[in-house]
Amino acid sequence: MPTSSISDILRQPKVGDTVTVKGWVRTFRSNRFIALNDGSCQGNLQAVVDFEAFPEALLKRVTTGASLSITGELVASQGAGQTVEIAVQKLEVLGDCPTDSYPLQPKRHSLEFLREIAHLRMRTNTFGAVMRVRHAAAFAVHQFFNDQGFFYLNTPIITASDAEGAGELFRVTTLPADGAPKKEDGTTDFSEDFFEKPTNLTVSGQLEGELGAMALGKIYTFGPTFRAENSNTTRHLSEFWMIEPEMAFFDLHDNMELAEAFCKHIIKYVLTNCQEDLAFLDQRLEQEEKSKPQDQRSGQGLIEKLQFVLDNPFVRCTYTEAIDILKDSKPNKKGQFKYPIEEWGADLQSEHERFLVEKHFKSPVILFDYPAKIKAFYMRLNEDGKTVRAMDVLFPGIGEIVGGSQREERYDVLVEKMQAVGIEPEHLEWYLDTRKFGTCVHSGFGLGFERMVQFVTGMGNIRDVIPFPRTPGNAEF
Ligand code: 4AD
Ligand code: MG
Repeated sequence: MPTSSISDILRQPKVGDTVTVKGWVRTFRSNRFIALNDGSCQGNLQAVVDFEAFPEALLKRVTTGASLSITGELVASQGAGQTVEIAVQKLEVLGDCPTDSYPLQPKRHSLEFLREIAHLRMRTNTFGAVMRVRHAAAFAVHQFFNDQGFFYLNTPIITASDAEGAGELFRVTTLPADGAPKKEDGTTDFSEDFFEKPTNLTVSGQLEGELGAMALGKIYTFGPTFRAENSNTTRHLSEFWMIEPEMAFFDLHDNMELAEAFCKHIIKYVLTNCQEDLAFLDQRLEQEEKSKPQDQRSGQGLIEKLQFVLDNPFVRCTYTEAIDILKDSKPNKKGQFKYPIEEWGADLQSEHERFLVEKHFKSPVILFDYPAKIKAFYMRLNEDGKTVRAMDVLFPGIGEIVGGSQREERYDVLVEKMQAVGIEPEHLEWYLDTRKFGTCVHSGFGLGFERMVQFVTGMGNIRDVIPFPRTPGNAEF
């Protein structure tokens, strides 16, 4: 008999059918009620055993975490909490689970503890919900771009360039760690290395994405990116997934419109398709909030917050306006910012972004037209000669979720900007070629996928929305 998924059974209970289900025991009460979960959904299927009809030795093996195959008839449930249950006719223990050493017991475990057993944590309600929502969000990404005529482009993971120019690179090499070949001047001789030059894991697929846009019109990437920045925060990973659309003939305004529509599509898709998991995560967050001091609570439930973002336009605000707001703000005047805002040109820290979004505008904000000095070399210089057509989308509780810009399409200006930050134009000749051969106005952005998953699940720490987080000092599993 084919195996039925518990999600299908609970969604459309066919009382009277005989089915086979396979899954893991969550609890076994009174030697009679097995709560079985197969990962397909939040809910468990209750299996009812007539213990007199089964050998005691077999029932002893039905422990939390054991995997079972159960065949039986679906019957209307007498008990509260479920409409249907399975009356067990055949019970097989597929894999035993010793109670004394299994770390997941039917009780609350802290997120910190679960991070240490990330190989098992997806079996909990919380991580099951997060991973199913993560899947739905990824599906929504592809759906959105496919519907809008974008092509999914796979850019390389091993590259010889630093797209962001921030130098936070993980080197890729096959040279021995000890005794790498040296040049006469004592530096490493990368001509002996696998690619015959220094290479690294990509920090962004953008530069190659631009090449795609200049041929296919509208493309997007969705892949892992790697940053060796030493940031131990709840918003940073060393390996994270990024979605980077790039569009020919789009200016900064078009780019902002697309970013807003894109964020809203993901949120809407999850709200529509993950109701059961969101309801669970909403409650989880409510519990967590209760343990915080009053002034640190968000005051909005998870689903309420998602609906609010859907229903309201994102505020657009220039960097210059934002600086004025921040300069005049209470926390700035009272010295409550760790980095006080004194003058135009200051880089915005997450405390400033969060003030603008959570206290001042009380809405997602798109900040644009940043000082050229604090942004990457490829951004389009404005006519004022000091700002660039950059944009960041800032979200409540998250801060920066999207970073993007209109790109500098003028060959001479781009070369000048590269030289100003010490990038050799010869090194990026292929990139400059697009500006030589049929250049055009174009734009794009990057959405940090885990930050979006954090937002839609309400999880406070980015390490809890990716199956196996990589952070400084941590590459377990
Ligand atoms: O702002 P970033 O660095 O922009 C770029 O990489 C551009 N090349 C994107 C583009 O225009 N195509 O990164 C984009 C987004 C950020 O807004 C943030 O959401 C996420 O990627 N991000 C991280 N997420 C998790 N951990 C990190 N260490 C991240 N660094 C950036
Ligand atoms: Mg950024």
